[in-house]
Amino acid sequence: MESAHAHRKDEHLSVAELEMRQRPYNSSLNGVRLLHNALPESRVADVDLTVHDKNFPFTTPFYIEAMTGGSQKTGRINAKLAEVAKETGLAMAVGSQSVALKDTEAIATFTIARDINPDGFMIANIGAGHPVQHAQTVVDMIGANALEVHVNAAQEIVMAEGDREFMWLDNLADIVAKVAVPVIVKEVGFGMRQETIATLHAIGVQYVNIGGRSGTNFARIEDRRNRTDDNQHAYLYDWGQTTAESLLEAKALTEKPTIFATGGIQTPLDVVKAQVLGAKAVGVAGHFLHTVMNEDTSGLITEVTRWQNHLAKIYALLGVRSQAELLQVPYLLDPELLNYANQRELH
Ligand SMILES: Cc1cc2nc3c(=O)[nH]c(=O)nc-3n(C[C@H](O)[C@H](O)[C@H](O)COP(=O)(O)O)c2cc1C
Repeated sequence: MESAHAHRKDEHLSVAELEMRQRPYNSSLNGVRLLHNALPESRVADVDLTVHDKNFPFTTPFYIEAMTGGSQKTGRINAKLAEVAKETGLAMAVGSQSVALKDTEAIATFTIARDINPDGFMIANIGAGHPVQHAQTVVDMIGANALEVHVNAAQEIVMAEGDREFMWLDNLADIVAKVAVPVIVKEVGFGMRQETIATLHAIGVQYVNIGGRSGTNFARIEDRRNRTDDNQHAYLYDWGQTTAESLLEAKALTEKPTIFATGGIQTPLDVVKAQVLGAKAVGVAGHFLHTVMNEDTSGLITEVTRWQNHLAKIYALLGVRSQAELLQVPYLLDPELLNYANQRELH
Protein backbone atom coordinates (compact mmCIF):
# COMPACT_ATOMS: atom_id res chain seq x y z
CA MET A 1 0.00 0.00 0.00
CA GLU A 2 1.57 3.31 -1.03
CA SER A 3 1.64 6.34 1.28
CA ALA A 4 -0.77 9.27 1.00
CA HIS A 5 2.15 11.32 -0.29
CA ALA A 6 2.83 8.78 -3.06
CA HIS A 7 -0.86 8.74 -3.90
CA ARG A 8 -0.77 12.52 -4.32
CA LYS A 9 1.90 12.05 -7.01
CA ASP A 10 -0.43 9.76 -8.97
CA GLU A 11 -3.26 12.24 -8.62
CA HIS A 12 -1.11 15.12 -9.88
CA LEU A 13 -0.25 13.03 -12.91
CA SER A 14 -3.79 11.99 -13.74
CA VAL A 15 -5.40 15.36 -12.99
CA ALA A 16 -2.72 17.25 -14.95
CA GLU A 17 -3.32 14.97 -17.93
CA LEU A 18 -7.10 15.40 -17.64
CA GLU A 19 -6.73 19.18 -17.41
CA MET A 20 -4.43 19.16 -20.45
CA ARG A 21 -7.03 17.29 -22.50
CA GLN A 22 -9.93 19.43 -21.38
CA ARG A 23 -8.16 22.78 -21.38
CA PRO A 24 -5.22 23.00 -23.78
CA TYR A 25 -2.73 25.72 -22.85
CA ASN A 26 -2.96 29.18 -24.29
CA SER A 27 0.69 30.13 -23.95
CA SER A 28 1.23 33.68 -22.70
CA LEU A 29 4.03 33.89 -25.25
CA ASN A 30 1.34 34.13 -27.93
CA GLY A 31 1.22 37.76 -26.80
CA VAL A 32 4.82 38.26 -28.00
CA ARG A 33 5.49 38.69 -31.72
CA LEU A 34 8.99 38.34 -33.14
CA LEU A 35 9.63 40.51 -36.19
CA HIS A 36 10.46 38.71 -39.39
CA ASN A 37 13.88 39.24 -40.93
CA ALA A 38 13.56 38.99 -44.71
CA LEU A 39 17.35 39.10 -45.14
CA PRO A 40 18.59 36.71 -42.50
CA GLU A 41 22.09 36.06 -44.00
CA SER A 42 22.17 32.75 -42.17
CA ARG A 43 22.53 29.00 -42.59
CA VAL A 44 20.73 26.43 -40.47
CA ALA A 45 23.98 24.44 -40.35
CA ASP A 46 25.75 27.39 -38.67
CA VAL A 47 23.31 27.57 -35.77
CA ASP A 48 24.68 26.79 -32.32
CA LEU A 49 21.92 25.91 -29.84
CA THR A 50 24.31 25.50 -26.92
CA VAL A 51 23.53 27.16 -23.62
CA HIS A 52 26.66 29.07 -22.69
CA ASP A 53 26.61 28.79 -18.92
CA LYS A 54 29.38 27.16 -16.93
CA ASN A 55 26.97 25.38 -14.59
CA PHE A 56 24.33 24.46 -17.19
CA PRO A 57 26.23 23.62 -20.41
CA PHE A 58 23.15 22.21 -22.18
CA THR A 59 23.45 21.32 -25.85
CA THR A 60 19.78 22.22 -26.28
CA PRO A 61 18.16 25.23 -24.58
CA PHE A 62 15.10 23.32 -23.35
CA TYR A 63 14.89 20.51 -20.82
CA ILE A 64 12.44 18.12 -19.20
CA GLU A 65 11.00 19.92 -16.20
CA ALA A 66 10.27 18.44 -12.76
CA MET A 67 7.21 16.20 -12.56
CA THR A 68 7.51 12.60 -11.59
CA GLY A 69 8.70 10.05 -9.05
CA GLY A 70 7.44 9.13 -5.59
CA SER A 71 4.97 6.37 -6.52
CA GLN A 72 5.43 3.20 -8.57
CA LYS A 73 3.47 4.67 -11.46
CA THR A 74 5.33 7.99 -11.55
CA GLY A 75 8.60 6.05 -11.15
CA ARG A 76 7.79 4.31 -14.44
CA ILE A 77 7.29 7.73 -16.06
CA ASN A 78 10.66 8.87 -14.66
CA ALA A 79 12.21 5.84 -16.36
CA LYS A 80 10.64 6.81 -19.69
CA LEU A 81 11.67 10.45 -19.36
CA ALA A 82 15.22 9.38 -18.49
CA GLU A 83 15.32 7.23 -21.61
CA VAL A 84 14.22 10.23 -23.69
CA ALA A 85 16.82 12.43 -21.99
CA LYS A 86 19.54 9.90 -22.73
CA GLU A 87 18.57 9.45 -26.38
CA THR A 88 18.22 13.17 -27.11
CA GLY A 89 20.89 14.65 -24.81
CA LEU A 90 18.33 16.72 -22.91
CA ALA A 91 18.77 17.66 -19.27
CA MET A 92 16.04 16.37 -16.98
CA ALA A 93 14.65 17.35 -13.61
CA VAL A 94 12.89 14.77 -11.46
CA GLY A 95 9.80 15.65 -9.42
CA SER A 96 9.94 16.66 -5.78
CA GLN A 97 11.94 14.08 -3.82
CA SER A 98 10.58 15.05 -0.39
CA VAL A 99 8.45 11.89 -0.42
CA ALA A 100 11.64 9.82 -0.55
CA LEU A 101 12.99 11.47 2.61
CA LYS A 102 10.19 9.83 4.61
CA ASP A 103 9.47 6.72 2.58
CA THR A 104 12.52 4.69 1.57
CA GLU A 105 10.50 2.68 -0.96
CA ALA A 106 10.11 5.86 -2.98
CA ILE A 107 13.87 6.31 -3.44
CA ALA A 108 14.05 3.84 -6.33
CA THR A 109 11.37 5.79 -8.25
CA PHE A 110 13.93 8.61 -8.53
CA THR A 111 17.22 6.70 -8.75
CA ILE A 112 15.81 4.79 -11.72
CA ALA A 113 16.31 7.96 -13.78
CA ARG A 114 20.02 8.07 -12.92
CA ASP A 115 20.41 4.30 -13.50
CA ILE A 116 19.01 4.67 -17.01
CA ASN A 117 20.95 7.81 -17.84
CA PRO A 118 24.22 7.59 -15.90
CA ASP A 119 26.01 10.39 -17.77
CA GLY A 120 23.09 12.78 -18.32
CA PHE A 121 22.53 16.17 -16.73
CA MET A 122 20.08 15.51 -13.90
CA ILE A 123 18.39 18.05 -11.67
CA ALA A 124 17.14 17.15 -8.19
CA ASN A 125 14.01 18.79 -6.77
CA ILE A 126 12.73 19.71 -3.31
CA GLY A 127 10.40 22.28 -1.71
CA ALA A 128 11.66 25.48 -0.12
CA GLY A 129 10.40 24.43 3.32
CA HIS A 130 13.23 21.91 3.65
CA PRO A 131 16.54 22.53 5.43
CA VAL A 132 19.91 22.27 3.74
CA GLN A 133 20.53 18.67 4.94
CA HIS A 134 17.44 17.47 3.05
CA ALA A 135 18.51 19.42 -0.02
CA GLN A 136 21.94 17.76 -0.04
CA THR A 137 20.32 14.33 0.53
CA VAL A 138 18.11 14.62 -2.56
CA VAL A 139 21.08 15.79 -4.64
CA ASP A 140 23.14 12.81 -3.50
CA MET A 141 20.18 10.43 -4.01
CA ILE A 142 20.37 10.82 -7.79
CA GLY A 143 23.93 12.11 -8.20
CA ALA A 144 22.39 15.35 -9.41
CA ASN A 145 24.30 17.98 -11.38
CA ALA A 146 22.04 20.75 -10.03
CA LEU A 147 19.15 21.28 -7.62
CA GLU A 148 15.79 22.96 -8.12
CA VAL A 149 14.12 24.30 -5.00
CA HIS A 150 10.47 24.95 -5.75
CA VAL A 151 8.38 27.75 -4.28
CA ASN A 152 4.65 27.01 -4.51
CA ALA A 153 2.68 29.04 -1.96
CA ALA A 154 -0.42 29.33 -4.18
CA GLN A 155 -0.49 25.57 -4.78
CA GLU A 156 -0.19 24.82 -1.06
CA ILE A 157 -2.93 27.31 -0.20
CA VAL A 158 -5.41 25.59 -2.53
CA MET A 159 -4.31 22.06 -1.49
CA ALA A 160 -6.53 20.78 1.34
CA GLU A 161 -3.58 19.10 3.06
CA GLY A 162 -1.14 21.82 1.98
CA ASP A 163 1.32 23.83 4.06
CA ARG A 164 0.15 27.01 5.72
CA GLU A 165 3.56 28.43 6.60
CA PHE A 166 5.87 29.90 4.00
CA MET A 167 8.96 30.97 5.92
CA TRP A 168 11.44 30.13 3.20
CA LEU A 169 14.13 32.78 2.82
CA ASP A 170 16.48 31.50 5.55
CA ASN A 171 16.33 27.96 4.13
CA LEU A 172 16.95 29.23 0.61
CA ALA A 173 19.96 31.30 1.67
CA ASP A 174 21.38 28.32 3.55
CA ILE A 175 20.78 25.93 0.66
CA VAL A 176 22.45 28.12 -1.97
CA ALA A 177 25.39 28.72 0.36
CA LYS A 178 25.97 25.11 1.35
CA VAL A 179 24.67 22.62 -1.21
CA ALA A 180 27.47 21.29 -3.39
CA VAL A 181 25.75 21.86 -6.77
CA PRO A 182 24.26 24.94 -8.50
CA VAL A 183 20.77 25.80 -7.23
CA ILE A 184 17.77 27.09 -9.17
CA VAL A 185 14.85 28.59 -7.23
CA LYS A 186 11.73 27.76 -9.22
CA GLU A 187 8.05 28.74 -9.12
CA VAL A 188 5.65 25.98 -10.10
CA GLY A 189 3.40 28.13 -12.28
CA PHE A 190 2.34 31.38 -10.60
CA GLY A 191 5.24 33.48 -11.88
CA MET A 192 7.40 36.04 -10.14
CA ARG A 193 7.46 39.78 -9.78
CA GLN A 194 10.60 41.87 -10.00
CA GLU A 195 10.81 42.35 -6.26
CA THR A 196 10.87 38.58 -5.68
CA ILE A 197 13.68 38.08 -8.17
CA ALA A 198 15.66 40.94 -6.60
CA THR A 199 15.19 39.45 -3.11
CA LEU A 200 16.39 36.05 -4.30
CA HIS A 201 19.41 37.69 -5.90
CA ALA A 202 20.17 39.57 -2.67
CA ILE A 203 20.31 36.34 -0.64
CA GLY A 204 22.76 34.77 -3.08
CA VAL A 205 20.51 32.86 -5.50
CA GLN A 206 22.22 32.74 -8.89
CA TYR A 207 19.56 30.93 -10.93
CA VAL A 208 15.84 31.66 -10.90
CA ASN A 209 13.14 29.91 -12.88
CA ILE A 210 10.25 32.39 -13.02
CA GLY A 211 7.80 29.47 -13.57
CA GLY A 212 4.86 31.49 -14.88
CA ARG A 213 1.14 30.99 -15.36
CA SER A 214 -0.38 29.97 -18.73
CA GLY A 215 0.54 26.28 -18.68
CA THR A 216 -0.11 23.65 -16.06
CA ASN A 217 -2.32 25.32 -13.47
CA PHE A 218 -1.86 24.02 -9.94
CA ALA A 219 -4.72 26.11 -8.54
CA ARG A 220 -7.07 24.15 -10.80
CA ILE A 221 -5.30 20.83 -10.22
CA GLU A 222 -5.40 21.07 -6.42
CA ASP A 223 -8.99 22.31 -6.43
CA ARG A 224 -9.93 19.28 -8.50
CA ARG A 225 -8.07 16.99 -6.11
CA ASN A 226 -10.08 18.50 -3.23
CA ARG A 227 -13.12 16.79 -4.78
CA THR A 228 -15.53 19.58 -4.01
CA ASP A 229 -18.14 20.12 -6.69
CA ASP A 230 -18.17 23.85 -6.36
CA ASN A 231 -14.60 24.76 -7.39
CA GLN A 232 -14.08 26.54 -4.11
CA HIS A 233 -10.92 28.30 -5.23
CA ALA A 234 -12.06 29.31 -8.72
CA TYR A 235 -11.18 32.90 -7.89
CA LEU A 236 -7.51 31.83 -7.76
CA TYR A 237 -7.38 30.14 -11.16
CA ASP A 238 -5.87 33.26 -12.73
CA TRP A 239 -3.61 34.05 -9.79
CA GLY A 240 -0.07 35.12 -10.49
CA GLN A 241 1.99 36.45 -13.36
CA THR A 242 2.15 34.66 -16.68
CA THR A 243 5.42 33.38 -18.12
CA ALA A 244 5.60 36.34 -20.51
CA GLU A 245 4.82 38.85 -17.73
CA SER A 246 7.38 37.28 -15.40
CA LEU A 247 10.05 37.37 -18.10
CA LEU A 248 9.33 41.07 -18.68
CA GLU A 249 9.64 41.61 -14.92
CA ALA A 250 13.04 39.90 -14.91
CA LYS A 251 14.24 41.62 -18.08
CA ALA A 252 13.80 45.09 -16.59
CA LEU A 253 16.14 44.34 -13.68
CA THR A 254 19.76 45.39 -14.13
CA GLU A 255 21.22 43.31 -11.30
CA LYS A 256 19.76 39.83 -11.49
CA PRO A 257 20.34 36.10 -11.36
CA THR A 258 20.44 34.00 -14.52
CA ILE A 259 16.83 33.49 -15.58
CA PHE A 260 15.19 30.22 -16.63
CA ALA A 261 11.55 29.92 -17.71
CA THR A 262 8.76 27.36 -17.49
CA GLY A 263 5.03 27.48 -17.89
CA GLY A 264 2.93 26.87 -20.98
CA ILE A 265 5.79 26.05 -23.37
CA GLN A 266 4.31 23.94 -26.13
CA THR A 267 6.24 24.75 -29.31
CA PRO A 268 9.86 25.43 -30.29
CA LEU A 269 8.77 29.00 -31.06
CA ASP A 270 7.70 29.40 -27.42
CA VAL A 271 11.24 28.36 -26.43
CA VAL A 272 12.76 30.97 -28.74
CA LYS A 273 10.39 33.70 -27.53
CA ALA A 274 11.30 32.95 -23.91
CA GLN A 275 14.97 33.19 -24.88
CA VAL A 276 14.40 36.51 -26.70
CA LEU A 277 12.86 37.78 -23.44
CA GLY A 278 16.00 36.70 -21.58
CA ALA A 279 15.57 33.08 -20.50
CA LYS A 280 18.83 31.15 -20.56
CA ALA A 281 17.07 27.78 -20.63
CA VAL A 282 13.44 26.71 -20.81
CA GLY A 283 11.71 23.86 -18.95
CA VAL A 284 8.86 21.90 -20.48
CA ALA A 285 6.58 19.84 -18.24
CA GLY A 286 2.93 19.27 -19.19
CA HIS A 287 3.42 19.04 -22.94
CA PHE A 288 6.14 16.40 -22.64
CA LEU A 289 4.16 14.51 -20.02
CA HIS A 290 1.12 14.47 -22.29
CA THR A 291 3.29 13.25 -25.18
CA VAL A 292 4.97 10.44 -23.23
CA MET A 293 1.66 9.28 -21.74
CA ASN A 294 -0.05 9.14 -25.11
CA GLU A 295 2.78 8.29 -27.50
CA ASP A 296 5.22 6.54 -25.16
CA THR A 297 9.00 6.96 -25.10
CA SER A 298 9.45 6.74 -28.86
CA GLY A 299 6.78 9.41 -29.43
CA LEU A 300 8.51 11.81 -27.06
CA ILE A 301 11.92 11.13 -28.62
CA THR A 302 10.40 12.02 -32.00
CA GLU A 303 8.86 15.20 -30.55
CA VAL A 304 12.09 16.33 -28.82
CA THR A 305 14.15 15.63 -31.94
CA ARG A 306 11.67 17.64 -34.00
CA TRP A 307 11.94 20.55 -31.54
CA GLN A 308 15.75 20.44 -31.73
CA ASN A 309 15.63 20.57 -35.53
CA HIS A 310 12.98 23.27 -35.59
CA LEU A 311 14.86 25.44 -33.10
CA ALA A 312 17.84 25.59 -35.43
CA LYS A 313 15.49 26.54 -38.29
CA ILE A 314 13.85 29.32 -36.25
CA TYR A 315 17.23 30.75 -35.22
CA ALA A 316 18.26 30.80 -38.88
CA LEU A 317 14.93 32.37 -39.90
CA LEU A 318 15.60 35.17 -37.43
CA GLY A 319 19.14 35.57 -38.75
CA VAL A 320 20.83 34.56 -35.51
CA ARG A 321 23.46 31.91 -34.91
CA SER A 322 23.46 31.66 -31.14
CA GLN A 323 21.56 32.40 -27.98
CA ALA A 324 23.41 35.67 -27.33
CA GLU A 325 22.24 37.07 -30.68
CA LEU A 326 18.61 36.24 -29.85
CA LEU A 327 18.66 39.06 -27.32
CA GLN A 328 18.87 41.53 -30.24
CA VAL A 329 15.73 40.25 -31.99
CA PRO A 330 13.04 42.97 -32.15
CA TYR A 331 9.60 42.02 -30.84
CA LEU A 332 6.15 43.48 -30.23
CA LEU A 333 3.84 42.93 -27.28
CA ASP A 334 0.08 42.56 -27.63
CA PRO A 335 -2.02 45.30 -25.95
CA GLU A 336 -2.53 43.29 -22.78
CA LEU A 337 1.19 42.65 -22.24
CA LEU A 338 2.04 46.22 -23.20
CA ASN A 339 -0.48 47.46 -20.66
CA TYR A 340 1.13 45.19 -18.06
CA ALA A 341 4.62 46.43 -18.94
CA ASN A 342 3.49 50.07 -18.83
CA GLN A 343 1.75 49.80 -15.47
CA ARG A 344 4.74 48.01 -14.00
CA GLU A 345 7.11 50.51 -15.69
CA LEU A 346 9.15 47.64 -17.14
CA HIS A 347 11.29 49.52 -19.62
C1 LIG B 1 2.23 16.11 -13.01
C2 LIG B 1 3.09 17.25 -12.61
C3 LIG B 1 3.86 17.17 -11.46
C4 LIG B 1 4.70 18.21 -11.09
N1 LIG B 1 5.49 18.08 -9.96
C5 LIG B 1 6.40 19.04 -9.68
C6 LIG B 1 7.33 18.86 -8.62
O1 LIG B 1 7.31 17.84 -7.94
N2 LIG B 1 8.24 19.85 -8.38
C7 LIG B 1 8.26 21.01 -9.14
O2 LIG B 1 9.12 21.88 -8.93
N3 LIG B 1 7.39 21.20 -10.14
C8 LIG B 1 6.47 20.25 -10.43
N4 LIG B 1 5.61 20.43 -11.48
C9 LIG B 1 5.61 21.73 -12.17
C10 LIG B 1 6.43 21.73 -13.45
O3 LIG B 1 7.78 21.47 -13.20
C11 LIG B 1 6.28 23.08 -14.18
O4 LIG B 1 6.87 24.10 -13.40
C12 LIG B 1 4.83 23.46 -14.42
O5 LIG B 1 4.07 22.31 -14.75
C13 LIG B 1 4.69 24.47 -15.54
O6 LIG B 1 5.20 23.96 -16.74
P1 LIG B 1 4.23 23.42 -17.92
O7 LIG B 1 3.23 24.49 -18.17
O8 LIG B 1 5.15 23.14 -19.06
O9 LIG B 1 3.57 22.19 -17.40
C14 LIG B 1 4.76 19.39 -11.87
C15 LIG B 1 4.00 19.46 -13.04
C16 LIG B 1 3.18 18.42 -13.42
C17 LIG B 1 2.40 18.54 -14.69
